[in-house]
Amino acid sequence: MSELRTARLLLREWRDSDLVPWAAMNADPEVRRYFPGVLTPEQSAASAARFQGDLVRRGWGWWAVEVAATGEFIGFAGLDPVEEGMPFTGVEAGWRLARPAWGHGYATEAALAVVDFGFEKLGLPEILAVTTAGNLRSRAVMRRIGMTYDPADDFDDPDVPEGPLRPSVVYRLRPGHHRPGEG
Ligand SMILES: CC(C)(COP(=O)(O)OP(=O)(O)OC[C@H]1O[C@@H](n2cnc3c(N)ncnc32)[C@H](O)[C@@H]1OP(=O)(O)O)[C@@H](O)C(=O)NCCC(=O)NCCS
Repeated sequence: MSELRTARLLLREWRDSDLVPWAAMNADPEVRRYFPGVLTPEQSAASAARFQGDLVRRGWGWWAVEVAATGEFIGFAGLDPVEEGMPFTGVEAGWRLARPAWGHGYATEAALAVVDFGFEKLGLPEILAVTTAGNLRSRAVMRRIGMTYDPADDFDDPDVPEGPLRPSVVYRLRPGHHRPGEG
């Protein structure tokens, strides 16, 4: 079973009961503010199935995140190989939470567990994080877990249509440089 535990969170495989709250958060324009658009329920279901398939096949990927005390599904966090066609390669960390779950430190807590897993269990030499330059909340998570930013890595994301979301930034983390996680 592919799971990570933190003080307050459980990162786990996806369940059918996640699909309704997952579709709802992906239909929220605020959650999708830094992406090219909101997702239909079908697109959300397809992504959850893809994420679950990756977890089963490989044992890691984009985990569903729930608040351990209540069992409430709040989004995802995890690791995935960088898409082909980007101007760099490696494994990236990522996170997306429903709006009511913002402002509690959950993304930072999940991200620390994820990078601990990447370094300790997968032996990764480096973990990246990538976002559109204006996504300051996500950049703050990157900074809080100890990732570093070099403007020399700035790039135009080829997967994003021309426009303000295209200029993107890369944060990098090496083993031993992240804030200690919760185990
Ligand atoms: C990116 C995203 C996950 C960040 O969420 P977030 O709530 O800002 O980040 P955290 O969960 O780490 O919470 C940090 C906030 O909680 C506060 N906080 C409260 N309790 C806390 C605790 N126990 N520990 C740490 N922080 C705590 C912090 O002070 C901080 O508040 P601030 O933003 O007012 O400074 C969220 O904005 C999101 O899902 N966005 C849409 C999807 C997206 O853009 N994903 C990233 C794509 S690259």
